[in-house]
Amino acid sequence: MKQQQSPYKCHLFVCGKSRGGERKSCGDGENPALKDALKNEISNRGWKGIVRVSDSGCLGVCEAGPNIMVYPQQIWFSGASLADLPEILHTLEKILAE
Ligand code: FES
Repeated sequence: MKQQQSPYKCHLFVCGKSRGGERKSCGDGENPALKDALKNEISNRGWKGIVRVSDSGCLGVCEAGPNIMVYPQQIWFSGASLADLPEILHTLEKILAE
């Protein structure tokens, strides 16, 4: 094993866990579409290579979902929807400006 530093300034983990309606889960909301929209915006803004968007399994806070966590900044977005895309991108802009 080799230990390395992450090449990304921030890494978004978008929970896509779906329980098919059995109980609340992020994948049953708009997170799959929000993940795709985030990936497109990050690519369009030239942030690829410094911002990464990855699918995530359950993050353990399903009732607050849909959830997205941003590391290493320790930011969580809960109850996220497509309408929140501008706010998430604004947060990323602020992170990248630091
Ligand atoms: S299903 Fe997303 S946090 Fe559990």
